[in-house]
Amino acid sequence: MTRQFKIDAANAALSLVEDGMKIGLGSGSTAEEFVRVLAPKVAEGLSIIGVPTSERTGALARELGIQISTLDSYPHLDLTIDGADEIDGRLQLIKGGGAAHLREKIVAFASDKVAVVADHTKKVDMLGAFPLPLEVISFGLVATKAAIEKLCKNEFGLTAKLTLRENAGAPVVTDNGNLVLDASFGRIPDTKGLATGLSQIPGLVEHGLFIDIADVAFIAGPGGVETISRAASA
Ligand code: 5RP
Repeated sequence: MTRQFKIDAANAALSLVEDGMKIGLGSGSTAEEFVRVLAPKVAEGLSIIGVPTSERTGALARELGIQISTLDSYPHLDLTIDGADEIDGRLQLIKGGGAAHLREKIVAFASDKVAVVADHTKKVDMLGAFPLPLEVISFGLVATKAAIEKLCKNEFGLTAKLTLRENAGAPVVTDNGNLVLDASFGRIPDTKGLATGLSQIPGLVEHGLFIDIADVAFIAGPGGVETISRAASA
């Protein structure tokens, strides 16, 4: 069922696609459904260029016959379609469950419009139940962790439980060669403040808070697809 909701959201996002667009392709299972519904349109003659946010999405797009390129070749994109781990009522997001949030944020930042595709389980009243992904470099990891904990405690009264993300007993390494810390807060009342604070910490390459980046979200559930746009949610 959840997969069908992801496909429904992906199909709804197709309405934003126009011939000739340069499109950022997000990462994760819902963004991959978008790649899958886009591919038949390309086979029918739609001309677009996709800029993938991860090696995995790039491989899928290539396999399905979608022309892909890089942000260096196309530094200005018309649209990005991506998933999210949490979405609040103001279209603020937590991303990075797939460890791709650094490239996802760079690609989103280069896009005229950013659309989120998700199933209804991603919608929350307040961000923070999903552990916040933090891409960090391995050099000085202990000092970086201490700086994150200090900032969260002193500035935001948040106790950050930081866990190094692992897979099959080995640290997860991002497409950029970095590590990921997952910060369990439970709830993040001041998302903008925390995003700003975390951005100041050297060694923390990028956090998964996407503040004022998404323009529209297509959220699919049993009642159909809900469209939330930034103007309406502000
Ligand atoms: C990857 C992401 C994904 O968009 C996010 O984790 C959602 O993934 P899914 O659609 O599989 O639930 O941010 O870094």
